[in-house]
Amino acid sequence: MSGSPPIADLHFEDAPRVETPIPGPNSQKLLRRQREIDSGAVAYPRSVPIALDEAKGATIRDVDGNCFLDFFAGIGVLNVGHSNPYVLEAVTEQTERLVHTIDFPTEARIEFIEKLDEIAPGGLGGRNRVVFGGPSGSDAIEASIKLAKYNTDGRGLIAFKGSYHGATSGALSLTSGKKYKEAYTPLLPDVVHAPYPYPLWDDGDACGRILDEVRATVEDPYGGLTNPAGIWVEPIQGEGGVVVPPEGFLPGLKEIAEDNGIPLIVDEIQAGFGRTGKWFASEWFDVTPDAIPMAKGAGGAGLPLGALMYHEDLDTWGPGGHIGTFRGNVPAMRGGVRAIEYVQEHDLLDHAVDLGEYIRGRLREAAEASPSLAEVRGMGLFIGAEFVDDEGRPDEAAVNEIREYCYNRGVLVWSAGRYGNVLRLLPPLVMTREQAETGLDVVVDAIEAHAGEAAGRS
Ligand SMILES: Cc1ncc(COP(=O)(O)O)c(C=O)c1O
Repeated sequence: MSGSPPIADLHFEDAPRVETPIPGPNSQKLLRRQREIDSGAVAYPRSVPIALDEAKGATIRDVDGNCFLDFFAGIGVLNVGHSNPYVLEAVTEQTERLVHTIDFPTEARIEFIEKLDEIAPGGLGGRNRVVFGGPSGSDAIEASIKLAKYNTDGRGLIAFKGSYHGATSGALSLTSGKKYKEAYTPLLPDVVHAPYPYPLWDDGDACGRILDEVRATVEDPYGGLTNPAGIWVEPIQGEGGVVVPPEGFLPGLKEIAEDNGIPLIVDEIQAGFGRTGKWFASEWFDVTPDAIPMAKGAGGAGLPLGALMYHEDLDTWGPGGHIGTFRGNVPAMRGGVRAIEYVQEHDLLDHAVDLGEYIRGRLREAAEASPSLAEVRGMGLFIGAEFVDDEGRPDEAAVNEIREYCYNRGVLVWSAGRYGNVLRLLPPLVMTREQAETGLDVVVDAIEAHAGEAAGRS
């Protein structure tokens, strides 16, 4: 492909268009068949009952022909949109040529590692290594735990309340959500979860106090954690409710890590690959992580590709130091290179900043007339809106009502937050301003409808 198409050309033109009740008859059939044979662990269709047929850019069609604007992008995976033709061209070519190579060199692998270096943040540029293990974000987190243990000889892990780092045993040990882990404990034994700043709930001094607590966990002779290996942190908590920490938080953690010779591992799995308007969210805080687990957007077209970038000084392990059959899927690597090129060619980092400002602006206007919308926050196209009831308690029902109102009108939004009371918007970076305007008309109507009903109830 000589050039890549502009973002306006990537989508179905008819979104949003809903012509059946949701779920429509064809969706109902597939949902029923899924319930009969698929796992009881299936979760997403319980909240948004549709069966999917095809998708382009920031639009998705269900099996009844209804067309949705996608403000979720497969949990922040499809940053350059569904089936971006510029990405698919290279993926298809590679799929026809060579798919699985374990870690033998290919042009695709070397190009992808070089492209990652081009976008590496701060002091990692030109001084990093990348390891591929399994294809998911959880796999990248497992790699980071091994890297930290290998380099420090430590065993203790420091993470944060409100965190989500994945679902394999090591990653689940770092994850703080009890619902994900309660049936599977004990996990890794030496994990401490420190508080994560939560500006909506905190007083003004919380960040400093939390940093003191983290430092005490590492340095206090009675800190409890005997032998720390590293600190794992999300630069913006995703599952935890799109929580943006105060600007001193990540730099404070970096200082503690440096003072104590342990790595700071910044989990960019949800926040990375341009989502916040920088390649990596840690750049907004002027912090160079020692290691960055990445996945989600890495494979460009939604192809699974997990990777861990880390400072070259930590590259002390030998052959087989980290392993896995799927050590980097070659078509996904081609997709990853093309996705980065697409973002660069179309200035999508700036677009993410502008569009994010617009969306937060619309939500803040809605908040003025809706007391239950307590806070609108985020960076770039990583956006959260937190809802509370008339006594200020987390209001999960509000988010569920808003999500239902939206999908019935052709707009897909999602939730997050410790109590499920944060509306989470993660639109693809290729969403146009016109699509965002149309989608936000629906979201704002939903918020107003909820406010009206809440006022009627009280
Ligand atoms: C911040 C963060 N870390 C890790 C993970 C785990 O990634 P995966 O689901 O690909 O294993 C996720 C998934 O949502 C995530 O948001």
